[in-house]
Amino acid sequence: MKTSTARAYANIALCKYWGKRDTILQLPTKSSISVGVSALFSETTVQRHADNHDRILFNGSLALESDAAPIYAFLIIFRNEFGIHDPLFISTRNSFCHAAGLASSASGFAALALALNSFFGLNLLPQQIAQLARRGSGSACRSIKGGFMYWEKGIRADGTDSVVHQIASSYHWPELCILTVLVDSHKKSVSSRSGMQLSMNTSPHYNSWVNKSEMTIPLFIEAIQKKDFKSLAQLTNDEWTSWQQVLATTRPPLHYSQPSTYKIITCIDELQSSGIDCFYTTDAGANVHIFSLKEHAQTIVATLEKLETIQSLIVSTIASDAYLVE
Ligand code: PMV
Repeated sequence: MKTSTARAYANIALCKYWGKRDTILQLPTKSSISVGVSALFSETTVQRHADNHDRILFNGSLALESDAAPIYAFLIIFRNEFGIHDPLFISTRNSFCHAAGLASSASGFAALALALNSFFGLNLLPQQIAQLARRGSGSACRSIKGGFMYWEKGIRADGTDSVVHQIASSYHWPELCILTVLVDSHKKSVSSRSGMQLSMNTSPHYNSWVNKSEMTIPLFIEAIQKKDFKSLAQLTNDEWTSWQQVLATTRPPLHYSQPSTYKIITCIDELQSSGIDCFYTTDAGANVHIFSLKEHAQTIVATLEKLETIQSLIVSTIASDAYLVE
């Protein structure tokens, strides 16, 4: 039986996407910048389902209704757009735990969009596949290409100018490594989707953060192009701190970080003060992503492994583009 399988990598935002100017088209209120993470990926297989309904598997088991719901919603959009109505059998495997702030929806929807494009022979360009993936989960548009990605917010109501650009490919900065520290593998209590709309509607700092953060985009691009680690560290840290303020002033407040998150952050701050090049960010979850140079990876791992709260530590390089698996 014909199948199409695609692999796409998770991406972690250095400059965050948090809020939509259009919730149907999933258009962001601001631009964002991310990097692909090589050890965090989703592989998704699409084939026709013999029954007259869709079936969705997650890591080999029938998906829970709460996990499958966003995929069903995406399939409605896909079918309306392409006039395709075949019942589908979709099987997704993640190399990491799902929905704990490790960007599984980004890698999952990017892999699904790529697999659907191949399965139905749609011949979409990467930019169009990214725009399709975005309808499943906004940040998924940054996972069709690897390396460093810039998602331009655009201003048009139809979203045609909300496009992704690859700032640099996975080969650009081979010395860089990413350490993902897992402290909590549970599903987050408030999804990014709900959390970002709450922040937009209630945080008094939201608009000033959006404006200030948008202005840093050219600085992020320059730091990445020049492989200027110190500037990238400073920019990412400033961005994370102001985004945390938005989360804390959302009503009710969004507490994605946990005491274990802060222990890791304190450790990284100390390593940084001792002269080790490293910086961190988190997504909407308690886990921490640390960026450093390969020469420091062992020192950082050895320091973090002394913390009891760590469940696991995943070492990555910068991910390549999403691709079809034969
Ligand atoms: O794509 P979503 O709806 O899962 O939102 C992702 C939001 C963050 O991961 C927190 C930030 C980002 O830019 O990826």
